[in-house]
Amino acid sequence: MNKQLPKGFFWGGSVSSFQTEGAWDEGGKGVSIYDITPTPEGHADWKVAIDAYHRYDEDIELMRQMNFNFYRFSICWSRIIPNGDDEVNEEGVKFYSDLIDKLLAAGIEPMITLVHFDMPAHLVKKYNGFASRTVVDLFARYAKVCYERFGDRVKHWMTFNEQNLHSVFIRVSNAYDVPEGKSEAAHLYQVAHNVMIAHCKATKLLHEMVPDAKMGGMTTVTNYYPATMTPENNLFCQQAYNYHSQWVVEVQATGKYPAYWTTYLKNRGWYPEMEEGDEELMLESTVDYLCFSYYRSNTLTEGTFDYERPFNDCIEDHIIQNPHLDATEWGWEKDAVGLRWILCDMYQRYRMPVFILENGMGAREELDENGEVNDDYRIEYHRNHIEAMKQAMFEDGVDCLGYIVWGPIDIPSSSCEVAKRYGFVFVNRTDTDLRDLRRVPKKSFAWAAKAFGSNGEDLA
Ligand code: BG6
Repeated sequence: MNKQLPKGFFWGGSVSSFQTEGAWDEGGKGVSIYDITPTPEGHADWKVAIDAYHRYDEDIELMRQMNFNFYRFSICWSRIIPNGDDEVNEEGVKFYSDLIDKLLAAGIEPMITLVHFDMPAHLVKKYNGFASRTVVDLFARYAKVCYERFGDRVKHWMTFNEQNLHSVFIRVSNAYDVPEGKSEAAHLYQVAHNVMIAHCKATKLLHEMVPDAKMGGMTTVTNYYPATMTPENNLFCQQAYNYHSQWVVEVQATGKYPAYWTTYLKNRGWYPEMEEGDEELMLESTVDYLCFSYYRSNTLTEGTFDYERPFNDCIEDHIIQNPHLDATEWGWEKDAVGLRWILCDMYQRYRMPVFILENGMGAREELDENGEVNDDYRIEYHRNHIEAMKQAMFEDGVDCLGYIVWGPIDIPSSSCEVAKRYGFVFVNRTDTDLRDLRRVPKKSFAWAAKAFGSNGEDLA
């Protein structure tokens, strides 16, 4: 068997708008929910991030030097439609249009995420985020504007970053107000359904408006290992995997809710209200491939899913640190074998191409006395994960489209912690001091250039 990765295999990086752009009040942008959400004590705010809004030429050049042929970024909804329900901001459109042109000129294929946890603050205040079907329709309108303006050049799209998180945390959907008479769990799963309908509307629209473009379903995936060897513990892990991510993947791939999911919700009185046409729409809106983020596996002790609390609370009670795996300072276990497991499981279930869209490890770093960051641990992490991916492809027959890392140039973490760095390039700022935001390639920069430039052949 040919053990070389296919020509055109994608290598690159993923980011979100709020973790990179800065320029929070420039270019006609409206107020995004991130601009007004407090960050934890000791962390930065989102106003500057890494100032990519003003520095993307330099960042694209660094990506080109690392032999990227793919870059996934998110559009900030409030740059395009400042309040979400008003007119299009042409300055915002131009910003992304120029970015796309420059990426293509550097030989880098762009992928757009329409929503990476953010939305115009006005939509949260006026409509309660994705609790409202009006916001579902406003999202479809926003998607349409993006397809009209960028669809001629952008052929890879996704609706929601890590869509399954909309059934885990209500904050991701920005739908904080629980309607009177509804339990928190019923509200959470109603909103997750609304988000699914928003995803389907935008997917159908893309296929109609830009027939040569592809829509990727996107989830964050982790596998669960039983801490004990009991059959009950094993079953709990399988259920956790299904509830946490696979029910969303199933709808993205087949257009139908799986029976375990509808049964779980109905048994607890949490089944969402459907509108006429929802089920037909889901069937008509399947995706073209399955994307996911993977950072770590989890290990669970024995447990069950009770009838009072959402599934995630039940899982959280049972997570323990796996003694067989090293973890980052943030307790995220490094598990390359887990990536092979996920790739196999996801591909074999649906026989749809799969795409690793986020992978990486966070580390606390500073320039040393020579002005360097010698991040051998990061090289090892990516090498192990690329090797595991190759095994999934060459030993298990998985059709994988690419290996895309998270935050290739340091960006603040999802909770705006600058100290948690993922990049091949150091950005000179801290949580409390903006310094000069200078970009400094780390040791892993040269490794990435070699690994990606050799299409995954040279991982030494
Ligand atoms: C993913 C998100 O969950 O993981 C990113 O898409 C996030 O927004 C990334 O930054 C890494 O997580 P964290 O919390 O370490 O930044």
